[in-house]
Amino acid sequence: MNKPKIIKGFSKLSAPEKIKLLMDEYELDKSVKNTLERYLHPTDQLLFDDISENTISNFYLPFGLAPNFLVNDKLYMVPMVIEESSVVAAASKAAGFWALNGGFKTRVINQTKNGQIFFKWEGALELLEKKQEQLEGQLFKATTHLTDKMRKRGGGITGFEFKKVTNLSDTWQLLVKFETADSMGANFINSCLEQMAPVLKSFINNDRELSCQGTAKIVMCILSNYTPECLVECTIDCPIENLAPYSGSYSPQEFAERFETAVKIALNDPYRAVTHNKGIFNGIDALILATGNDFRAIEAGAHAYASRNGHYASLTTASIQNNHFKYTLNVPLALGTVGGLTNTHPLAKTSLEILGHPSANELMQLAAAAGMANNFSAIASLVTSGIQKGHMKLHLTNILNALKASPQEKELATGYFKGKQVSYSGVETFLKEQRN
Ligand code: MEV
Repeated sequence: MNKPKIIKGFSKLSAPEKIKLLMDEYELDKSVKNTLERYLHPTDQLLFDDISENTISNFYLPFGLAPNFLVNDKLYMVPMVIEESSVVAAASKAAGFWALNGGFKTRVINQTKNGQIFFKWEGALELLEKKQEQLEGQLFKATTHLTDKMRKRGGGITGFEFKKVTNLSDTWQLLVKFETADSMGANFINSCLEQMAPVLKSFINNDRELSCQGTAKIVMCILSNYTPECLVECTIDCPIENLAPYSGSYSPQEFAERFETAVKIALNDPYRAVTHNKGIFNGIDALILATGNDFRAIEAGAHAYASRNGHYASLTTASIQNNHFKYTLNVPLALGTVGGLTNTHPLAKTSLEILGHPSANELMQLAAAAGMANNFSAIASLVTSGIQKGHMKLHLTNILNALKASPQEKELATGYFKGKQVSYSGVETFLKEQRN
């Protein structure tokens, strides 16, 4: 194989120079350059350039609103950023329904976050635990300059635990617990850990009893995106007869039973559970993106939480008791409303303004409600008419846009495809016939 041609100094080039290099290197059509340039922001581009690296354009996604979210008796319009059609419509429909049926009842169970310092050492747990209090004093002292401000906001370091890493005989972690108030806390946690790691190392290596077991060597330290304690619960419930607007050709009782079975399937079958939870994340991610939070962190942590009992399962549970339907979601959501992109991206700031400047605690509850709304809509469709019926109108719009249909053609196609199966080739043929 020939040595690959490595591009050097790409990051140093200006955006137009980067585009030129791209165009020359790959002999792209001029339309590529035009599109990239068209989506540069006319006044605020520097702001977007600073968010990431090697920026040559901006990637637009729709910013929508789902109204009528009644969460703990307070009404919200939930901002949603998503690339998938039907998500905002499904969330809005479920929110409107539940607003008239008691709303979403949510509570934050805990907001604890975790950090890990991994190290090599050949001693025993009892010895570490014997000296732990003394070590903790040193760790607190070494981090006061970092934790001072956070403590004033109600956060800080709240606990330490030594744990052996499973299957590795001489590898340990010091698991550190944090409260990070309204920030997601990634920078705070990582800074504290990096400050503590050398203190931990010299504590072990300078202690006669500990060091005679072996020399401690730090491997790495980083926050953990697994936050099983940073948990929020969301419940919706109503008399079964109230479910009539969703029950389609079934009785409300049959609908509730079919719904409960669908959730039991997702609790037991991982293939279904993944799709079920994906539907929950349609709502959660859309709000997380709109508020500038880290959706990868949230997804990774919540999917691990969904596997906490040894197999991947639904994050929701349903029950029917005394003619009453109850549906509950438990999901870890380590969110922030200060710091990071939440304060720098103009639309993330706007989202928080629309939500009335929520605390992280409140945003966790809103995200859980958004997830619940989308999941409720999805399961309700799946156990009645199927998912495609609701998707078809928006699916048709997307196909018509992709085929560059005129407003007049769109109107004709909408009429023609009402009640019919929509497919790309079907719409293409329809437009061809119209255009002929
Ligand atoms: C599609 O984005 C989401 C669903 O697949 C979720 C589900 O199946 O529960 C409809």
